Amino acid sequence: TLTADVSRTTTNVNKTQFGDIVEDINHSVEGGLGANMVRNSTMKENGTSSWSAVTAGGGAGTIALDTTQPLNSANGNSLKLSITSNARGQRVGVANSGFYGIGLAPSTKYTATFFAKTDGTFRGGLTVDLESTTGTVYAKATVHSVNSKWTKYSVTMTTAANTPVSTANRFVIAADGVGAGSALYFDVVTCQPPTYHNSGLRKDLMDKLAATKPGFFRVPGGNYLEGNTLSTHFDWKTTIGPIENRPGHQNDAWGYWSTDQAGLKAYLDMAEQTGAQPLLAVFAGYTLNHTVVPQDQLAPYVQDALDEIQYAIGGPYTKWGAKRAADGHPAPYDVRYVEIGNEDWFDGTGSYNNYRFPMFHDAIKAAYPQLQLVASAAVNSRPVDVIDDHYYSGDTSYFTNAAHTYDGASRNGPKHLVGEYATTNGTKDNPTGTLAGAVSEAAFMTGMVRNADVVVGASYAPALSSVDDFQWPTNEIAFDAATSFGSPSYWVQHIFGTNTGDYVVSSSLAGADAAVNSVVTRTASGTVYVTVANPTNSPVTTQIRLNGATSVRPNGTATVLTGDPNARNSIAAPNTIAPTTSTFTASNSFAYTFPANSVVALKLNAP
Ligand code: AHR
Repeated sequence: TLTADVSRTTTNVNKTQFGDIVEDINHSVEGGLGANMVRNSTMKENGTSSWSAVTAGGGAGTIALDTTQPLNSANGNSLKLSITSNARGQRVGVANSGFYGIGLAPSTKYTATFFAKTDGTFRGGLTVDLESTTGTVYAKATVHSVNSKWTKYSVTMTTAANTPVSTANRFVIAADGVGAGSALYFDVVTCQPPTYHNSGLRKDLMDKLAATKPGFFRVPGGNYLEGNTLSTHFDWKTTIGPIENRPGHQNDAWGYWSTDQAGLKAYLDMAEQTGAQPLLAVFAGYTLNHTVVPQDQLAPYVQDALDEIQYAIGGPYTKWGAKRAADGHPAPYDVRYVEIGNEDWFDGTGSYNNYRFPMFHDAIKAAYPQLQLVASAAVNSRPVDVIDDHYYSGDTSYFTNAAHTYDGASRNGPKHLVGEYATTNGTKDNPTGTLAGAVSEAAFMTGMVRNADVVVGASYAPALSSVDDFQWPTNEIAFDAATSFGSPSYWVQHIFGTNTGDYVVSSSLAGADAAVNSVVTRTASGTVYVTVANPTNSPVTTQIRLNGATSVRPNGTATVLTGDPNARNSIAAPNTIAPTTSTFTASNSFAYTFPANSVVALKLNAP
């Protein structure tokens, strides 16, 4: 029996209760959220990789990396196309193969931008197109002339209604003029479909994240923030402003180049545009190769964090707030939590407790006393507002067993952020997990919500993964160049994000039903949600008693996620595990059968 007294609430559900960590891992951002489909757009990823010469009709030419014609001090490499022959009817150009293909869709307008120049002897323009890898052109545009000065070009091209949704495509810029013996140069090349609220972020991925009603994004997340070395940490100042002025950096935490075209502002925007808060993580002087910035050299990093916070929340007349305004966002972002570092427990020297956390803490609290500071490791040298706990396990019962972790947490110490958690049971072919892992996460989530007075929020990790190149075994949403799908864990996030009230209701489970995990929440206006994870292989019938309500209306809605516990979703079969919604007859006391291996949210009207 599950007994709830809907007139008695135990605590508020936090605005930040459910969220995601967003870090550039698995091409989550570069080649993922970042909508630019052109890989190696600044020619800094292994020379001319992802580029090739494309010729037809007897046209001839070669490509090479060129460093003699720098666009600017941030981007000094360019792609040189040396034209040997391009007489009428011949074709010579450069083709980009994208991030594991170029995703195309029908009736879609693509915008390409790039910098180009000639060596002075070329006369004419360029054609820009999106075509299959075998040369079927799906969308095309023209640049009428190029000259010997670096110039930014922008074109749009629209695919026809019969264009197939596919990834086996390439992006091509070809010479359209008289040029045998001459050369063309290209740099900072982009091509993207319409993006989420014009954010520059890929729409299908953002739509999926937004549909879970996230309360926060922990950004920029994880190891990506730290980098392997001091020179490769997330250096936020180089990730803002016009993209051509961003140098990019080697994402050595996860082994690929980041152009930083989706930089700090994109992280802040994506939170704002989905109604979430950015939980801003600042670099704290520790890198993955165990470099610890000595105390007497830490001040510039502390200042960098202060500047970053000012960029995010400073008034438009502060130095960095003005920069934010110039970048198109005069109003401060809604940042309330700042995390100092990431997983600093790996630093075995004690520097986090001894001086790094204290220096960041004291400086940030002095300038921004309203901010809640999250410690990424245990600290006793300063009061800690929030401590970040991370949990990963490949065992599909781990999180079920952990469902009561926070029941006994101290109410006098720091609050908890579960900044990373997931059942890590993806495969080498599929970077997403099974239903069993997701149900287990749901059991854990019921406990975190019941303890919302001490667990301020939890972010599933990682949020996103390419199916073509991933470093982390299990992720919430996976994608190829054209399409994406949510994992069973995604649907668990979706169910909690869309079926949780504002207050936790006092409830208890008794009898054999204790094999399931539950939480009851309600809104002020009397919508009650009973959320239950049944991790067992048998259906569980539970008597649900709702005390304290004037009436319980009969029109209940059940959202149910269930199926084969070992099933997972994929690009080919994205909906193998997906929730269904149906109605049922509710009353003050009713029996409900929770299917085996299920997560169920019952929505009731009980004013
Ligand atoms: O989420 C993947 C990684 O797990 C993060 O980068 C790191 O913080 C954690 O170890």
